[in-house]
Amino acid sequence: MTHQPADQRVTPDDLLGNVEAILAGEPDLIANAANVAALLFEALPRINWAGFYFLRDDQLVLGPFQGRVACTRIPLGKGVCGAAASQRETIVVADVHAFPGHIACDAASASEIVVPLIAGDRLIGVLDIDSPIRDRFTPQDRKLVEEVAALLVRALPA
Ligand code: SME
Repeated sequence: MTHQPADQRVTPDDLLGNVEAILAGEPDLIANAANVAALLFEALPRINWAGFYFLRDDQLVLGPFQGRVACTRIPLGKGVCGAAASQRETIVVADVHAFPGHIACDAASASEIVVPLIAGDRLIGVLDIDSPIRDRFTPQDRKLVEEVAALLVRALPA
């Protein structure tokens, strides 16, 4: 496993290369999700939370993350995470206070992106990133985060 030297921060430009390196040869979802959350938190400026919720029965249950303590269970269809999971579509929210049903885990959060994790036709969970800045996530960020999510799903055992 190669990874950025300890004295050098990962940047958005080398995020995907670092994610690929960290996932190589490791099929365990929890281990990989933990490292991906750490890489995202390090690489993306102006964010306050990055992590995962995994589908357990009909609820999303908190997985590995970086940031402040978060709510542990989110029903499908609730909040931004539950909406992205049930619609199986990325949701980018420029102003979380204007999103009906938004679940405020960290009062500092102002904008959010949630990408569903889908393996074949199976919903695994979601990747959620929050920012204290309104309208933080650009179309380029969306593409980058969707690529990170795709790499994580691809690393799962068949
Ligand atoms: N804001 C999310 C809940 C999860 S926290 O942001 C970590 C939502 O509305 O689904």
